[in-house]
Amino acid sequence: SELAEFIRDVPKCELHLHIEGTLEPELKFELAARNGVTLPYPDAAALRASYSFHDLASFLVGYYDGVGVVRTEQDFYDLAWAYLSKAHSQRVRYAEVFFDPQAHTSRGVEFGTVVRGLRRALVDARRLLDLRAELIMCFLRDFSAEYAMATLMESLPFRDWIIGVGLDSDERGNPPAKFAAVFARARAEGYLLTAHCDVDQENSVAHIRQCLDEIGVDRIDHGINALDDPELPGELLRRGIGLTVCPVSNRFVTGRLHHEAVRRLLDLGLRVTVNSDDPAYFDAYLTENLLALHEAMDLTRQEVIQLQRNAFEIAWLPARVRDGYL
Ligand code: ADE
Ligand code: ZN
Repeated sequence: SELAEFIRDVPKCELHLHIEGTLEPELKFELAARNGVTLPYPDAAALRASYSFHDLASFLVGYYDGVGVVRTEQDFYDLAWAYLSKAHSQRVRYAEVFFDPQAHTSRGVEFGTVVRGLRRALVDARRLLDLRAELIMCFLRDFSAEYAMATLMESLPFRDWIIGVGLDSDERGNPPAKFAAVFARARAEGYLLTAHCDVDQENSVAHIRQCLDEIGVDRIDHGINALDDPELPGELLRRGIGLTVCPVSNRFVTGRLHHEAVRRLLDLGLRVTVNSDDPAYFDAYLTENLLALHEAMDLTRQEVIQLQRNAFEIAWLPARVRDGYL
């Protein structure tokens, strides 16, 4: 249709994308061979066919396990370059890329190896693809606050290459408040702050409330359960806090796209955005997320424009650069 064409062509901004979640089975096999690792599947197709997730926890197991083949600086470069090339083909003009250093340092890969490889790919994308991208470091919330703080300290020599910090992995029993001191220190170091409040978790509303009152986030990842509370939407609106929603990811972890929530958030004037989260696992990059939403709720052209406008508006870019995209 005409709108599908428009969705493919519109200049895009992606703000919720885990680089570890872009590891396609084909690259996983290539890196496994390079590093002398044997995978428990005969080939990429068999690995892909094995994917079956029904909630956040069941997805995260394979996700952290799967990234074990990524080891050298060149591996991290190749991982990021594959994503950036794909994003470029979908007309993504700016991307903020999450990485999970502890998914790597916890298995013996040095922090510097991770960040140098990723950074080099981002620099090349800027030069060769005219795609600007920045890094956001996420703490794994199922590890301790002490390990997060140590990771924050390890990041400081690379401070200029990282624009902010986030919080991801298994939310159950790991509220934002657990990391209040880590986030306070991150802010003092000049990082911007975001945190996952995944869809339909057991304490989603309380976690969003903590993000506002105890962390002072600049943004919330997912966060659509704000609609379950009488106060939160108005407060997000007043404070200009954006939400990075991931429809196809929602469908994998809850069975539903939650497209009604996207429309309600848009109608309330909240700065809601659409993103891909872990596209290699959910089989949907940014364009496919927008198309899935369109199929479910018959997006208008104006809504597509508003979603991209919101994303560029809440992007962590210097005002002058941001205005260039708007
Ligand atoms: N890591 C990768 N994707 C995630 C998600 N949607 N929630 C929490 N942790 C994640
Ligand atoms: Zn995520």
